[in-house]
Amino acid sequence: MKAPLVVGNWKMHGNEADCQALARAIVQGLKKQTAKAEVAIAPPFTALAAVKKIIRGSKISLAAQNCHWQPFGAFTGEVSPSMISELGCDYVILGHSERRHIFHETDDVIARKIGPAVAHGMRAILCVGETLAERQAKQTAKVIIRQLRIALKGLGNDVIEKLEIAYEPVWAIGTGQNASPAQVNQVHQRIRKVLVDAFGATKGAQLRILYGGSVKAENAAELTELDSVNGLLVGGASLKAETFVPIVRAF
Ligand code: PGA
Repeated sequence: MKAPLVVGNWKMHGNEADCQALARAIVQGLKKQTAKAEVAIAPPFTALAAVKKIIRGSKISLAAQNCHWQPFGAFTGEVSPSMISELGCDYVILGHSERRHIFHETDDVIARKIGPAVAHGMRAILCVGETLAERQAKQTAKVIIRQLRIALKGLGNDVIEKLEIAYEPVWAIGTGQNASPAQVNQVHQRIRKVLVDAFGATKGAQLRILYGGSVKAENAAELTELDSVNGLLVGGASLKAETFVPIVRAF
């Protein structure tokens, strides 16, 4: 297994100067002691270029929060994989629950984006997760298997090697209520089984599975202790270096 990956998803927060300051503080915070985990930060599109300049020379990677699947065209308001790759993005988050639920991106739409993102030299972070109603209806496994199967269908070996999976239960995102270690473990093991079934024992064991949803410095240790957790996707707590750096160090 590769080193664990911790991703800070800044969502729609911060103008250019705010994002530069935050990136600078994270670079400084991680300089003091080398971390075991790889780190990526995902500022809004408008700050990608500015943040890239700040993190150059550090080990921190740049991530975009979304992209379109086409290289260019009449898609008002969209940003293509080549555009974010040109700005220095190493990763792109795809299928985040806010994209699925607020902007109605379907499993099929998300599936279309993975290949083009990887073809432009980036690693794709595919997010999956159930809503509270789906969990209460005992549909968690079914929903996650469906989201994964549609997204992973037909992906070649070159793409699989550039893929990360993030399990983010919708009810845990931004609510302060993280999934318990037992809940995380159960779903991560299920995801691993889907990956092994789809790609074989060796390849399926190599993909990192990240957890996201109200990760904080206070609960990071109980999550990073789990063998099934190969990284974390952090929203709110990634908006300050003081709260993000300790999460990185939890591994
Ligand atoms: P949160 O967000 O850490 O604020 O819950 C996680 C995410 O949306 O990736």
